[in-house]
Amino acid sequence: MERRCPVLDTTGRDIHAETDFLRAQGHAVQVELPGGVLAWSVNTYEAVRQLLAEPDVTKSARNHWPAFINGEIPPDWEMISWIAMDNMVTAYGKDHVRLRRLVGKAFTPRRTEAIKPRITALTNHLLDALEAAEPGEVVDLRERFAYPLPAMLVADLIGMSEEARAATAKVIDMMVDTTVTPDQAQAILSGWRGAMAELIAEKRRNPGEDITTDLVTARDSDGSRLSEVELTDTIFAILGAGSETTINFFDNAITALLSDPEQLELVRSGRSTWDDVIDETLRVESPLAHLPLRYAVTDIHLDGVTIPQGDPILINYAAVGRDPALHGTDAGRFDLTRQDKEHLSFGYGPHYCLGASIARAVATIGLSSLFERFPELSLAVDRQELVPLPTFIMNGHRALPVRLTAPVPAAVS
Ligand code: HEM
Repeated sequence: MERRCPVLDTTGRDIHAETDFLRAQGHAVQVELPGGVLAWSVNTYEAVRQLLAEPDVTKSARNHWPAFINGEIPPDWEMISWIAMDNMVTAYGKDHVRLRRLVGKAFTPRRTEAIKPRITALTNHLLDALEAAEPGEVVDLRERFAYPLPAMLVADLIGMSEEARAATAKVIDMMVDTTVTPDQAQAILSGWRGAMAELIAEKRRNPGEDITTDLVTARDSDGSRLSEVELTDTIFAILGAGSETTINFFDNAITALLSDPEQLELVRSGRSTWDDVIDETLRVESPLAHLPLRYAVTDIHLDGVTIPQGDPILINYAAVGRDPALHGTDAGRFDLTRQDKEHLSFGYGPHYCLGASIARAVATIGLSSLFERFPELSLAVDRQELVPLPTFIMNGHRALPVRLTAPVPAAVS
């Protein structure tokens, strides 16, 4: 009888159960994506690290995915927006080095330092608004804090207008929703380009202190610049890579601390640091779960598995930090006192996260300010009742209902 591949669950109902199941099958196992596309899910720390550093693994569908090159992947495929881009995220080899060098000029340590006061101001602005909640009122902390802080920060870094921010928020949300229809996916790509062309034109007329201005003026040592398409797609890459990841990081860190008072007490008492919280959250709850797509330029040999040339690959980031081979049988337990918090949640190799230091800065300022301002913060539902995002790409919740202050005790009559 023909053996069917596991189908990745587009509803994201239980990412960790799916991940454990896939890891138990081996370092890499074929899975089915929307549209019946088969890809290899790579599920162990060892194999992911090997693969991310492998020069014969690429992110360029245009150059290395035969099914895409031959037109077997329809332009309205549900996941097309992850692969049909022209930016450093999908570039390979020398091309990637060139694009990353140009974009890297906008991600200097100086910019990270310079943005810190802005992060503090944005954080305080959001916390001030939360102060208006009634005592014991339930608020959605994802909508009111975890989402807007990174979204506003990345929009600021890019130098966006209010209109561009609103349009972009919709696009990013739709992009990580793996239940999106082909028509919606098409609208995502076409509708957004107009807004970005306008943004770039505006920065040419009125340069600012922002990444778009840096990108518009950046020149490589040979004098080359980003093309118009590369510019738009690079801004898209920064938005996508920077906002949704950080939003889900906040969601997961706050959830982990609020569902384990002993862990929270470790931070409050100063026995654990916010850096411990950041790395332990990234290890146990990688914001990126299954990242599409990479391709094998030649046959790739992992321990006991061969990924044939031309096959697509997903990195199962959610599986890496929880790998028992690295962190033992309790790898899935959130434990700030764990000495070794090794994870690959910022990636590894040539595509390592360009915004990692900005992410660490916003995480530290955001979390420390939130827990300082609301010492009575608590989850308003059981952790098991939180509803996961409908996607296998991201790891987070649809909403994060909390109480900022203790409920007022009912009057005794
Ligand atoms: C907790 C927050 C974040 C996490 C977990 C995260 C994670 C990652 C990961 C795993 C990759 C590599 C993807 C791959 O396998 O190819 C990546 C790449 C990238 N990230 Fe982040 N990221 C975060 C925040 C940010 C922020 C705040 C920015 C920018 C403002 C950013 C910008 C980028 C860019 C531009 C890339 C592409 C690098 C390349 O392809 O060469 N990230 N990120």
